[in-house]
Amino acid sequence: MVEGERPPHDVSLFPEESAIIANAAEKRRRDFRAGRACARLALAALGVHDVAIPSGPRREPLWPAGIVGSITHCPGYVAAAVALSEHLPALGIDAEQWGAAGSDLESFICTPAELDRYRDSGHPCWRTVVFSAKESLFKALYPVRHFELEFADVEVTLSQGRFSVSPARELGPLAADIQRIQGRFLLGRDHIFTAAWLPRAASGGAPTGSQQNSFSVSPRIAW
Ligand SMILES: CC(C)(COP(=O)(O)OP(=O)(O)OC[C@H]1O[C@@H](n2cnc3c(N)ncnc32)[C@H](O)[C@@H]1OP(=O)(O)O)[C@@H](O)C(=O)NCCC(=O)NCCS
Repeated sequence: MVEGERPPHDVSLFPEESAIIANAAEKRRRDFRAGRACARLALAALGVHDVAIPSGPRREPLWPAGIVGSITHCPGYVAAAVALSEHLPALGIDAEQWGAAGSDLESFICTPAELDRYRDSGHPCWRTVVFSAKESLFKALYPVRHFELEFADVEVTLSQGRFSVSPARELGPLAADIQRIQGRFLLGRDHIFTAAWLPRAASGGAPTGSQQNSFSVSPRIAW
């Protein structure tokens, strides 16, 4: 994972990447470049160099074969995380400023059961944590399943820096993926961070405990 508070200035883009932001506003261009800068460094840490990371039709980053990954940018923070798909079949990360999701959004973000669970829980910034957890989930699963999950489709359970997700309606085969998702959240000074990933399936070989249960954030590079 590669992260930073301020993006580097000297990122060169491949033509297919430049085309994505050709008509974009300056802020979007900065965000895109910052995300690609983090992604390049993250890929380099896996030994992958000089590859474009274009975007798919639903804006999903298109990683080189054998790689999964995710990008996030918000005011004051940008990051990219990558992994070998043989280790993690799906990975999503998200960062939000504290309180990004206000009470006006809570009935859009949360199911009635989540509102019952968290409204009086005293959990700091619960709306933003639930929002970010669902964004991470979406970013992890969309590239592999191409499914347009809605916020009301799933329920997030937060517990001591971890979260799990369960379907809130009939979601067909996607339900099994959702139930297998593992999540982490971290409350930083200015930001809330979440990560969601699918552990490698038992049928894909004999996973070790750490491959199955933990998200390695190493090497972690900041500038
Ligand atoms: C895709 C989405 C989650 C991105 O969130 P965002 O507010 O733009 O926030 P971030 O800055 O953290 O993330 C942007 C990055 O996400 C990645 N991303 C965008 N669409 C994606 C997708 N369909 N799948 C995976 N990653 C995606 C991109 O890398 C993008 O950066 P880039 O365009 O510079 O490459 C959001 O725009 C969205 O569509 N949300 C609705 C779907 C959703 O979250 N549902 C919840 C269901 S439980």
